[in-house]
Amino acid sequence: MPVPPAQSAATRGPRHVAIIMDGNGRWATMRGRPRIFGHHAGARRVREIVEACPDYGVDYLTVFAFSTENWKRTQAEVAGLMSLFRGYIRREARALLANDVRVRFIGDRVRLDAKLVGLMDELEALTQQCQTTHLTVALNYGGRDEVARATRRLAEDVARGHLRPEDVNEETLPRYLDTCVLPDPDLVIRTSGEARISNFLLWQSAYAEYEFVDTLWPDFTRAEFGRLLASYARRDRRFGGVKVAAAGGAVAR
Ligand code: IPE
Ligand code: IPE
Ligand code: MG
Repeated sequence: MPVPPAQSAATRGPRHVAIIMDGNGRWATMRGRPRIFGHHAGARRVREIVEACPDYGVDYLTVFAFSTENWKRTQAEVAGLMSLFRGYIRREARALLANDVRVRFIGDRVRLDAKLVGLMDELEALTQQCQTTHLTVALNYGGRDEVARATRRLAEDVARGHLRPEDVNEETLPRYLDTCVLPDPDLVIRTSGEARISNFLLWQSAYAEYEFVDTLWPDFTRAEFGRLLASYARRDRRFGGVKVAAAGGAVAR
C-alpha cells in the first residue's frame, strides 16, 4: 500500500502548482483585438507568476501552453502561437537563468517544427543546473497522448525483456511518463471560469486539489496566486484516509 504523505492536512503551501492558463482569446475579443493579442498578454503573465514562486515556497510550476487538441484552431492562430513560443524562449532565456529557473518541456515534440524544438532543447540545456524553481511547460501536451506514448515505450521494454509484466505497477508506470522526474501536482489552477481539466496531467493529478477561478489568464496576478495558495493551505488532504489529529491519532469526522 502506498504510504500517504506525512501531512494529511495541507497545513502548508503546495510544493507543485500546475496551471491551465485559459481565457486569452476571450480577453482579446472583449477588447476588440485578435486572439493572438490575448496570447501575448498571457505570455507576459507567466514571468510574474514564475518569479512569485520562490516567495511562496512553490518549487515546481507547470503551465499548460498548448494542448494536443489546440491544433484544431485556425492555421493563423496556431502559427501565431508557435511564433510566440519561439520568441518567448529567445526573450526569456536570460531572465530565467538569472532567476535560477530550471525549464523543462513536456508533450510530444514530433509534431513541432524543428526550429522550435531546437530552442526548447537549448533552453533545457542552458538552465540544467538551476535549482530555485522548476518550470515545466506543457507544449503539444495531452494527458491521454502522454499515457499512450508511455505505454508504447513500456511495451517495448517488456518485449525486449527489460521489464517483466508482473513488475508493471503504480511505481514503474509513471517512470515512462514525460513527468517522470517531477513530483505530482498538489494544486491545479484553471482560469477563465471553465470547470474542466481538458486532458491535462490526467495520471499525475489523481489526488491534486483544484481551484477554478473566473479571472481570464491575462488578468491573473501574483496577488490572486497568493490567495489561492493560502486557500490551499487551509484544505484537508486525506488521500483516502482519515483526518490525523495533531498528536498523530486518527479522529472521526
Ligand atoms: C488559452 O487561452 C491558451 C491556449 C489554449 C493556447 P484560449 O485561447 O483557450 O482562450 P479562450 O478560452 O478562447 O478565451
Ligand atoms: C486548455 O485550454 C489548453 C491550454 C490552456 C493550453 P482550451 O481552451 O484548449 O480547453 P477547452 O477547449 O476549453 O477545453
Ligand atoms: Mg480556452
